Amino acid sequence: MQLANRAQAVQPSATLKTGQRAQELRDAGVDVINLSVGQPDFPTPQAIKDATITAIQANQVDGYTATAGVLPLRQAVADHLLATQHVTVTADQVVITTGAKMALYALFQVLLNPGDDVLLPAPYWVSYSEQVKLAGGHPIEVAPTASLKVTPAQLEAAVTPATKAIVLNSPQNPSGLVYTKAELQAIGDWAVAHDLIIVADEIYGDLIYAGPNPSPSMLTLGADVAAHTVLVNGVSKTYAMTGWRIGYAVGPTWIIDALKTVLSHMTGNAAAVSQAAALAALTGDQTPVARMRAAFQERLDTIYPLLTAIPGFKLDHKPQGAFYLFPDVSEAVQLKGLASTDALVAAILDQAHVALVTGKAFGLPSHVRLSYATDLQSLETAMARLKDFMTN
Ligand SMILES: Cc1ncc(COP(=O)(O)O)c(C=O)c1O
Repeated sequence: MQLANRAQAVQPSATLKTGQRAQELRDAGVDVINLSVGQPDFPTPQAIKDATITAIQANQVDGYTATAGVLPLRQAVADHLLATQHVTVTADQVVITTGAKMALYALFQVLLNPGDDVLLPAPYWVSYSEQVKLAGGHPIEVAPTASLKVTPAQLEAAVTPATKAIVLNSPQNPSGLVYTKAELQAIGDWAVAHDLIIVADEIYGDLIYAGPNPSPSMLTLGADVAAHTVLVNGVSKTYAMTGWRIGYAVGPTWIIDALKTVLSHMTGNAAAVSQAAALAALTGDQTPVARMRAAFQERLDTIYPLLTAIPGFKLDHKPQGAFYLFPDVSEAVQLKGLASTDALVAAILDQAHVALVTGKAFGLPSHVRLSYATDLQSLETAMARLKDFMTN
């Protein structure tokens, strides 16, 4: 008896694994500060919960919905894009999914034939490479520059005749960096010239602390780029709704229709109750989003200087979005006489009781990711522990 090759080729999510290890230590009574999590530490705003309870009590969310999602929610996504990015799409160009993760997974299923290549500029989010593999494709890692932002020249050097798509994530997980509109335009034009599909993961687009808010969307870069782009987004990060599992994809109808067909055999519709919650999130008062964003910014502004003062932790660029810091720790590894970043992460967890994620999971083994989606006091304590660890 044996598992399928595809199941054997896939790695478990490193971020989830680290979180589990931290939880095990906590369960054993160790006071671990967990900076490995990729979700806001705030509760879902009360107004969203109240609207959802009302929908439940009115028997509005008991049955299946259309696979694409309910029309008011698809329209709300289109309206949100118009209001925030001045982009016009129709509700037919929107499909609601079980988290942005499922939008991405289904997208690779729809786009890739066995052997197709997908360009993944490093650092990249952990699931892209595994999802590409699950669809029979080959992830092609594009090595990062010092700026951690990919350029058309690098893409030109990496592209192959079998390349079908490129994944671009801005604001970026794990670095928190945000591409400018000019940088996105250059990449978009390059992808159009090669007739590639751009998978634009903009899940952190509303969590921006410098520059235009929200960050520029790939869909704003003209008709040619938009015709080659599938935007992926969702309510998880912006509205503190990771558990509700609502994401969406927006793109040309020939791709969105294929997504609906594939999803009709996978999840059917995303949970109706969660669609009601997402509708309330997108159409309701946006004040809680501004409040959460301000809290993230305060944390970033507080811990950025503390982190850069830790011996061996190098962070050239202050992040502008999302809720992550991604320092280069190769010097820290050397200073502690360790063999690898993994060993450093393990030593920090065991001795300093701070949980980080190794950069290896994001295609950049010289780095670690810290999430600041935790309260300010814990963050300050974590920085002090890291400093102690590095200086003793
Ligand atoms: C870059 C990126 N894309 C997509 C997702 C998936 O988000 P969700 O499935 O919760 O909508 C995440 C979550 O961590 C992410 O960091």
